[in-house]
Amino acid sequence: MATDQTDRPAGDGPVLVTGATGYIGGLLVPELLRRGRTVRVLSRSADRIAELDWGDAVEVAEGDASDADDVAAALEGVDVAYYLLHSMAGGDDFEERDRELARTFATAAAQQGVRRLVYLGGLHPDGELSPHLASRVEVGKILLDSGVPTAVLQAGVVLGDGSASFDMLRYLTERLPVVVAPRWLRNRIQPIAADDVVHYLAEAADLPADLNRTFDVGGPDVLTYAEMMERFAALTDLGPRYIATVPVLTPELASLWVGLVTPVDSGVARPLVGSLIHDAVRSEEDLDDLVPPPPGGAAGFDEAVRRATRDMHLSLSAQGARLGAGAIGAAVSLGSAATAPARGVLRRLRS
Ligand SMILES: NC(=O)c1ccc[n+]([C@@H]2O[C@H](COP(=O)([O-])OP(=O)(O)OC[C@H]3O[C@@H](n4cnc5c(N)ncnc54)[C@H](OP(=O)(O)O)[C@@H]3O)[C@@H](O)[C@H]2O)c1
Repeated sequence: MATDQTDRPAGDGPVLVTGATGYIGGLLVPELLRRGRTVRVLSRSADRIAELDWGDAVEVAEGDASDADDVAAALEGVDVAYYLLHSMAGGDDFEERDRELARTFATAAAQQGVRRLVYLGGLHPDGELSPHLASRVEVGKILLDSGVPTAVLQAGVVLGDGSASFDMLRYLTERLPVVVAPRWLRNRIQPIAADDVVHYLAEAADLPADLNRTFDVGGPDVLTYAEMMERFAALTDLGPRYIATVPVLTPELASLWVGLVTPVDSGVARPLVGSLIHDAVRSEEDLDDLVPPPPGGAAGFDEAVRRATRDMHLSLSAQGARLGAGAIGAAVSLGSAATAPARGVLRRLRS
């Protein structure tokens, strides 16, 4: 039965974090605990939560987000709920699965009298979108239409060790000193440091009560993917990158790249690559007027990469180098077959 949202005083219930075994959720939970929040997580595996550093400090609602009863139980008495789920790792048809997950969550959140939903989607331009970005936008709309005030934060590439979009950047740069790439490598992207996106998500719990809208978030730098690869290589002493752009992105080329070059789950990486055909820059900065900036200010690209790679083993292993060489040959030859490389321009990005 629906609970009147005015039944409970604001701020007394736990905060629910979904996706706590994932990258963003796994960083958000300790930040919320640090801020003194009582945190509950919805996870398919209580055992996996118990293994995490903060596992003992949270309530665990074991359950599947596709199960309405599990979601209702997890949301009982909750004040603020974070929606940090996607089901791309489950393969094709992720759009339908994510639509259903969001509908189930939106319905249960309204019924349980949740005061605020916070969701992290993707930065995107207007117009037709890739399947991944269109699905992220659709999920945001479902939550915004739930009747529960919702803050949809929209981020581009999140720079942090373990973030799928960062890991793709890292492995593509490490393993491909020569790249035959489609023109999307020249599109504009406004990446954000993982710490900073977590800061904005944590702050969003306390936004004005009736606010129901999207907010773009991003760091101070706008770069192309090629520039990100160039700067990542410079910051990690990988040596110069050579990039040839060709006019057409085929799904086959994208799949080949991702499958051969990155260890990122291909179910996740392929849709992410498909989304790089779009610019991903902020179109507004309204959140900056409502919440304080991250301590020390939002990190630029170089600082974010330094933080992300501080404890990372970056030297290209012998196996990685062999894989890289194979991938280069394959990417070049597939690029030749699938596109018109004669019209591409091979350009040395850095001397
Ligand atoms: N990472 C980025 O670069 C980035 C950039 C922009 C926006 N975002 C957005 O941030 C959000 C979180 O992304 P992420 O990168 O943190 O994802 P992630 O690391 O892949 O984590 C996904 C989470 O969803 C959980 N999940 C999926 N299906 C579930 C189900 N049926 N029941 C319960 N849990 C389920 C997974 O749990 P299991 O561990 O049980 O599988 C996992 O905890 C997404 O909306 C994404 O679009 C991410």
